Amino acid sequence: MIDKHSPLPLYFQLEEQIKKTIESKELVPGDALPSERELSENYQISRMTVRQAITNLVNKGYLFREKGKGTFVSSQKFEQSLQGLTSFTEDMLARNLKPGSKLLHFEIYPADEDIKESLNLQDDELIYKIKRLRLANEEPIAIETSYLPVKLVPGVTPDILEKSLYKYIENNLHLSIGHATQTVEAAIVNEEDSKHLKVNKGVPILLIQRETYLENGTPLEIVKSSYRADRYKFKIGIERK
Ligand code: GLP
Repeated sequence: MIDKHSPLPLYFQLEEQIKKTIESKELVPGDALPSERELSENYQISRMTVRQAITNLVNKGYLFREKGKGTFVSSQKFEQSLQGLTSFTEDMLARNLKPGSKLLHFEIYPADEDIKESLNLQDDELIYKIKRLRLANEEPIAIETSYLPVKLVPGVTPDILEKSLYKYIENNLHLSIGHATQTVEAAIVNEEDSKHLKVNKGVPILLIQRETYLENGTPLEIVKSSYRADRYKFKIGIERK
C-alpha cells in the first residue's frame, strides 16, 4: 500500500498502485477510476496528492479524463519497434491482432515533380496514389498514403490493397524489398483523418514518412502515415559505442 515513511513521494507511490491495478487487469480499458475523494480516503492521503498522481498517469497515457464524467483507464498502446522493415500486416500478425485495411482512395496519374524526383522517375511515368485506413481487430489505428510507380509494381488492384501490398510485391511480383529510411514526427490530425481514425479533431498524431527501396536500390514507395498517438508508441534499441 502507501508507506508514509518511504523516501518515495506519495503521489508516485499512488501512481505505482494504480498502474499495478491496470497491469493485473483488476481495472481494464474503459473502467472508471474511483473518485479523488474515494482514493484519498482509501489511501489516507490528501486530494492534492491524488490529483497529482492522476494527472501524471493521464500525461503518461494510462488514464484519460472525460469532462463531467470522471477518469477512465485507457487502452494500452501498441509498442512498435523502429528496427526492421516490416509491413503493417506483419506488425499486426506478430501481435496476434487481425490486420485490416479500408481503401479510402485509389488513383493512377502522371507523377508530379516532387514525387517524380523522390521515386527517380522519367517524365510522364504513372504512379499509384493509395490512401488506406489501417485497422487492428477492426479498430482504426493509422492512415497511410502511398505513392508507387506503376511500371515497377504493375497490377495493383483494390482487392490487393484490402490485404497486404508487400505480400503482393514479394510473392506475386517476386521483387525483393531491401531497405528504407523513415522519420517520425509529431503532428495534429486533420479533420478528414480524425473522422476515419475516430479521434477528436485536433488531437496529436505520429506522422511517419517512409521511403522504401528494392534490394537493387530502385525507389519503390513513398509513404506518409498518421498513427494514433493515443494507441501507438515506438521503441528503438540503442547502444553506447
Ligand atoms: C507499413 C509501411 C508502409 C507499407 C505498408 C505495407 O505500414 N509503413 O510503407 O506500404 O506497411 O503494408 P501491407 O503489406 O500490410 O499492405
